[in-house]
Amino acid sequence: MSQLQDNFGRRFHYLRMSVTDVCNFKCSYCLPDGYRPDGKPSFLTLSEIANLAAAFAKVGTQKIRITGGEPSLRKDFTDIIRVVADMPNINTVATTTNGYRLAQNAQEWYDAGLRRINVSVDSLDPRMFYQITGENKFDQVMRGIDAALDAGFERVKVNAVLLKHLNDKDLPRFLHWIKQYPIDLRFIELMETGLGHDYFNKHHLAGATIKAHLLENGWGLDQAAIDDGPAQNFSHDDYQGRIGLIMPYEKNFCASCNRLRVSAKGKLHLCLFTEHGVDLRDLLQSESQQAELVSRLHQQLEQKKATHFLHDGVTGVTQHLASIGG
Ligand code: 5AD
Ligand code: SF4
Repeated sequence: MSQLQDNFGRRFHYLRMSVTDVCNFKCSYCLPDGYRPDGKPSFLTLSEIANLAAAFAKVGTQKIRITGGEPSLRKDFTDIIRVVADMPNINTVATTTNGYRLAQNAQEWYDAGLRRINVSVDSLDPRMFYQITGENKFDQVMRGIDAALDAGFERVKVNAVLLKHLNDKDLPRFLHWIKQYPIDLRFIELMETGLGHDYFNKHHLAGATIKAHLLENGWGLDQAAIDDGPAQNFSHDDYQGRIGLIMPYEKNFCASCNRLRVSAKGKLHLCLFTEHGVDLRDLLQSESQQAELVSRLHQQLEQKKATHFLHDGVTGVTQHLASIGG
């Protein structure tokens, strides 16, 4: 079956699959009041997930990232990892987590086939971490990162959202940390969501200032590999760790888009910021629906736009990224 491709020649080997909207943290840029259930949630079941992953594998998906909300809040999270990892053609299973169960479960997840972990750590100052996430769990999350490295994960990615007036003084600490640690640090520019203009205007910090600092201090911009996503990556001979910058407001950010998203309720999102998701769930009920599902995916890809419209303040339906996993 043919690979997924859009009208701009972009190919999609990478699926971000949300398995729950629920989160137990209250990150001020995401869920400042904590997770509020919206009616009775019914997230994709294990068998729907298996059918979804199988269809995407048929059309060229090689990597699946399991996201949330906080994906590890699913009681069957390890089973989800196993089902996806056992799927033919899926050669990388990844997850993005707030890290709160990592110390306990890193080994179990690794053994089930998980190979990449992104952990959100917005500050290395425990008090600032608490202030940003609403949870006093800095030590637990850091123990989790150690547990992941011990469990066999080669590298651990750490996401930090850049936030003016909050973690903007933290760069030296982050640099000090990754000197000796094999961490791929990702600084993510704050994206405007349905939370509104005020938060965004107050806290948005351009990644370009960090880029300038890195280039002045002996860091080099790595050549992008064909299948790299939209991050710009930097490395330095004296550091074990690497740094990636995700700057969605930069020109050409979308040109290297290589990802599709499916929400925890089974909607395909062609872009993090599209107005509508397209329901796939009716075609996830049985393996026999696979051909029909694949043809819906091809059809939808024809609609994918060249770029997002964030510059015009269009944030789409994305009220907060916990509903679509970032
Ligand atoms: N802007 C940028 N990044 C965000 N994330 C969540 N909300 C936002 C936002 N508004 C990131 C988190 C986490 C990942 C799941 O998405 O930091 O690392
Ligand atoms: Fe939860 Fe992640 Fe949102 Fe923080 S950013 S509230 S950890 S979903």
